[in-house]
Amino acid sequence: MNPVRWGVLGAGWLVHQATAQAIHHAEGATLQATAARDLARAEATQPVRAYDSYQQVLEDPAVDAVYVCLQNDAHLPWILASLEAGKHVLCEKPMTLSAGEAAAAFTAATAAGLLLVEAAWSRWHPRMRRVVELATRGDLGELESYLGTFTYPSVPEGNYRMRPEHGGGALYDIGVYPLHTLVACLPHVDGMQVLEAHVDMADSGVDLTTKATVSWGPGRRAALAASFTMPESQRLRIQGSDGELAIDDDQAFTSWRQASELRVGGNVESFPAVDAYEIMFAEVSAAIRGEAGWVLPAGDSLRVAAAVDAIRAATTA
Ligand SMILES: NC(=O)c1ccc[n+]([C@@H]2O[C@H](COP(=O)([O-])OP(=O)(O)OC[C@H]3O[C@@H](n4cnc5c(N)ncnc54)[C@H](OP(=O)(O)O)[C@@H]3O)[C@@H](O)[C@H]2O)c1
Repeated sequence: MNPVRWGVLGAGWLVHQATAQAIHHAEGATLQATAARDLARAEATQPVRAYDSYQQVLEDPAVDAVYVCLQNDAHLPWILASLEAGKHVLCEKPMTLSAGEAAAAFTAATAAGLLLVEAAWSRWHPRMRRVVELATRGDLGELESYLGTFTYPSVPEGNYRMRPEHGGGALYDIGVYPLHTLVACLPHVDGMQVLEAHVDMADSGVDLTTKATVSWGPGRRAALAASFTMPESQRLRIQGSDGELAIDDDQAFTSWRQASELRVGGNVESFPAVDAYEIMFAEVSAAIRGEAGWVLPAGDSLRVAAAVDAIRAATTA
């Protein structure tokens, strides 16, 4: 098996904390190149080659696929540049800042004959795969209500998350996690109606908190919350006509290298500790090689981006 040689754009918190190591450990993947504005930070990820410009990764013929891990407004331009350079792309969430941008990115990937995948890593976690399996094969009956929250109380001073021009704000940063699970559980629902939405804005112009209720039909509702100012919590609860499931450990979307549980009705299912980032790189690498490997469907990324658009429109109205 020829491993997929990854080139990484950016060497910030996530790359150092999790994803460089995930590429090193993932089956069928190698860390060929990393670029950061600061060469030493790129070198610290121990790639074959380190660069101080993102463009050099795109020009490196040894790079097969690019992992974009930059501030959010830089995602689309570097996706398009990577595709133009003939590289497959795995791009951090939120892949783009609107559904129109997401459509443009997937259109470019299709035209180039290359794979483009949004790196919403929670979707690769076996517990989340099981949630989606139970919800979509009818074990819960008709889905009626959904609760998904992701809140934490501290964004470091000066981080792009507090800057609107860099695609900051809680909805883009963490609101997309519960939205990803929601659209995955409702594969045939195209378009959510926003029933109500509330936003608490920072002086900088990003949303510190967004709370929304969305509907996919009469009596079908999802309550969503994303916040940079509320206590740390990640909850998931899905109620169907024939049953319910819940994650009670407050790590619904970021369970990482720790054992976890899923409550399905009165039963508790157990999941061993895994690194969902590592699974993501292994599976996307397999898909790039043309082998069986699960990738997050483009349609799900498009539906999440459309839901973000709709919630933003409702909160700014
Ligand atoms: N933190 C998480 O738990 C997490 C989890 C999943 C996904 N993500 C996603 O991963 C991406 C990066 O997140 P992060 O937590 O690693 O953020 P971060 O530490 O703030 O890193 C942001 C990256 O953006 C780059 N950058 C380039 N120009 C910049 C500018 N003018 N201002 C600020 N940054 C600039 C930096 O690249 P250089 O290295 O070249 O300086 C830096 O590596 C985001 O899209 C985020 O949504 C984060």
